[in-house]
Amino acid sequence: MEDNKRKIKITKNWPYLVTGNIPLAKEIIIWDFQENPIKWEKWDSYPKEETYALCRCGNSKNKPYCDWSHVKTEFNGTETASKEKYLEQAWKIEWDWIYLTDVPDFCSAARFCHRAGWTWNLTKNSSDPKSKEIAIEEACNCPSWRLVMWDEKTWKPIEKEFEPQTSIIEDSTLWVSWPIWVKGGIPIEWENWEKYETRNRVTLCRCGHSQNKPYCDWSHIDVEFNDWDKNIN
Ligand code: FES
Repeated sequence: MEDNKRKIKITKNWPYLVTGNIPLAKEIIIWDFQENPIKWEKWDSYPKEETYALCRCGNSKNKPYCDWSHVKTEFNGTETASKEKYLEQAWKIEWDWIYLTDVPDFCSAARFCHRAGWTWNLTKNSSDPKSKEIAIEEACNCPSWRLVMWDEKTWKPIEKEFEPQTSIIEDSTLWVSWPIWVKGGIPIEWENWEKYETRNRVTLCRCGHSQNKPYCDWSHIDVEFNDWDKNIN
């Protein structure tokens, strides 16, 4: 029963309506001494609720929840993302029993791909076991599923197992707030009731400025969207 209700509904010019007892957490990116992201860390949890509405206009005074500010500001949340499936949009690098697929439109600028010479170069150099290991780790840490590593023998994605969860992400290096990280194959429904392709990880815009709604396109950096330390237990 709970599985049937588990979804994120995009309401027309209104918030994301999250149903099915999906946990909501806050997570931060941990950096190395060169300011390259290396891992995720859970910072805190929000109270568990069966249903909740997450702001996507960026103007709520009660973030990450909606407080109806979208009405006052006449938020235009029109969905502009391609409805094509991931693999229909992806380009591919193949090398030494792994291959990497990439859809740049999904980028949320989490920057895990920067370390040790960029994921694309590491993939091309994956006959070296260390390069291969880092390339896989970086692709698996990409929150938006822009980058996906595949096993060429099985043709299956190399993926972390995620429990269904939504996370509010913060970035302590650029000091801006990040999008909503949706993990664990939660269905996302368009405002017209059709469904986007269900993916293991996606990032949804919460600053209201993405040109690729509902997905994040890292506009939060340009507008310096900042919502640190709100609504934490
Ligand atoms: S979507 Fe309702 S306040 Fe932002």
